Amino acid sequence: MFRSKIIGTGSYAPAKIMTNHDLEEIISTSDHWIAERTGIRERRIASKNEATSDLAAIAAERALEYAGLDPMELDLIVVATSTPDMVFPSTACIVQDKIGARRAAAFDISAACSGFIYALAVGDQYVRSGTFSSVLIIGAEVMSRIIDWTDRGTCILFGDGAGAVVLKRGRVDSGILSTHLHSDGALWDLIHVPGGGSRIPPSIDVLERKLNCIKMKGSETFKVAVRTLADAAWEALKANNLRPSDLDLLIPHQANMRIIKAVVEKLEIRMDKVVMNLDRFGNTSAASIPMALDEAAREGRIREGNFILMEGFGGGLTWGSAMVKW
Ligand code: UT7
Repeated sequence: MFRSKIIGTGSYAPAKIMTNHDLEEIISTSDHWIAERTGIRERRIASKNEATSDLAAIAAERALEYAGLDPMELDLIVVATSTPDMVFPSTACIVQDKIGARRAAAFDISAACSGFIYALAVGDQYVRSGTFSSVLIIGAEVMSRIIDWTDRGTCILFGDGAGAVVLKRGRVDSGILSTHLHSDGALWDLIHVPGGGSRIPPSIDVLERKLNCIKMKGSETFKVAVRTLADAAWEALKANNLRPSDLDLLIPHQANMRIIKAVVEKLEIRMDKVVMNLDRFGNTSAASIPMALDEAAREGRIREGNFILMEGFGGGLTWGSAMVKW
């Protein structure tokens, strides 16, 4: 029997910073409202010539360097994204080419903001089964390309970025202890991008009505997010015979500070055990958890033997968790 160990993390955020004050210039909002209702102060925006694979490749190279792994050793690359470079080929194939991982199989996963947890679970299964020994998991998004910059209910929330982890087959007493994935397709319309696919193909009408942009039922999504994240945490804790107080770090999807605080209250976890970076990056969808994990790892917040719970929710509706013993 094998387990997957996270042997390297990496992340990348575009250089351009967009603050809440910058948003005040383009929509009717205020820094005070955004900071109080979401915890977000600024987000990063990709430059015109940066696509998702560009962000993903830099995060991947940083994770590989951290892991001390040659790209040619990779067996599999999985990219979680809702903003792929193109309809096809997969962004994972483009990343494979950029980083020179010529031996690897590569594919994308679409699970919106839960994408990284879904991709991690898939990668973990390949390692546990003994099929692959070195796997690269990436969450990467250029959300700014699917945002309606006239919709103040969504444009204040999202940002661009990428995070990556390298999984390696390892001993059974540490690594990814469990993953749990869930979906409820009946709630598909809480957050979605209606146009540009096979249902409503690209057209001038799609662009005029901004159907190629995110539509979200904010307050309904908020309530479901608190419920699913709390349930997912309890499920992961129970599966590993752990109590909330046993956790060393909680890394939740960085959607809204008030969602995270409500979940933390339900679990009765100390706030200093929660990794939060949404004040600086906003909601980077599938990139948010691996970006936060990388920051925590590089700041020295993670020690060997620590119990780390990562959990996400997002469009689909999808949600899930990964419990790691570092
Ligand atoms: O990764 C998953 C992605 N989605 C989420 O996690 C989103 C979850 N939902 C949320 O984070 C929150 O629902 C929002 C931050 C999107 C909105 O916060 P809210 O507290 O649910 O506000 P609301 O939509 O109920 O609106 C309250 C008021 C409204 O005004 P009235 O009707 O009370 O006069 C809105 O028009 O706030 C107004 N409002 C704004 N005001 C200033 C909504 N957006 C803004 C804004 N600036 N950007």
